[in-house]
Amino acid sequence: MPLEHEQPDPDAAVNVAFWNHAASVERYQVRVPYLYWYEEVLLGIALAAIRDRLGAPRLVHIVGCGPGREVPPIRAACPDARIAASDIAPAMVAACKRNLEAWGCATNVDVCCAPARSLRADRGRAELVTALSNVLTYVTPRAERVSMLSAIHALLHPGGALVGTVHHRWGQPAKSAYFLMQAAATAARLSDTEPGERLTSFEGATRHLHYFTRGELLALFAETGFEVKLLESLRTLSRQHGQSYPATGDNNLVYVALAR
Ligand SMILES: C[S@@+](CC[C@H](N)C(=O)[O-])C[C@H]1O[C@@H](n2cnc3c(N)ncnc32)[C@H](O)[C@@H]1O
Repeated sequence: MPLEHEQPDPDAAVNVAFWNHAASVERYQVRVPYLYWYEEVLLGIALAAIRDRLGAPRLVHIVGCGPGREVPPIRAACPDARIAASDIAPAMVAACKRNLEAWGCATNVDVCCAPARSLRADRGRAELVTALSNVLTYVTPRAERVSMLSAIHALLHPGGALVGTVHHRWGQPAKSAYFLMQAAATAARLSDTEPGERLTSFEGATRHLHYFTRGELLALFAETGFEVKLLESLRTLSRQHGQSYPATGDNNLVYVALAR
């Protein structure tokens, strides 16, 4: 049964042209579905917290599913759950449906085209929502991020978990220097760019990104009704789990947040 949802909202869709481009779909296309090691860590922490409070997940939302890389392993980790996968880009949704059929993983999975902020708990509350591969990075400006996290909060049972990753302002020296200079220019009123915002263009489509600090993400979760269970940079998480992390790595922030 298809999920009921609102039509994609053009106001929330600043990056749709980018994500809908065939080259974007191809970039995230995979032959074999998988999770990165740190995504398995986040999922393990979230599922343990959920089981303590709510039991086994019965409904899971996978937000920004793209061509579906993470859908089969999350489905396997939540065998009693209905999976609601969604993405803002119709081309990503079509690729996800094709892949799930080809991988033999379409049973119990509904895939729909919707911006995250328009998702509603039409089919009851979920125990788990994932926003992996930095979905929140691509949601600008800040008011959109508040709308998206508030909508995700409303999807969850109290005690349910949101798991995800975002781009981090502090990582390789060139990136850190860019954001330090941006912050200085904004503080000196030489620029009115919100610290953390970055524009890139691709095949004629502009992509708006937001790079976070840890403190900023903590404040955003507090404002939208989440209690943070884990929020670390990938470099720190790698050290904690005995994994090597390259100096050139993006050092993204990874999180598990529980709905209050
Ligand atoms: C970096 S890709 C990751 C795709 C997939 N999760 C993966 O890991 O391969 C980010 C995905 O988020 C989707 N996306 C971006 N903003 C979104 C929004 N506001 N609501 C729903 N999906 C969004 C994009 O269309 C894209 O498919």
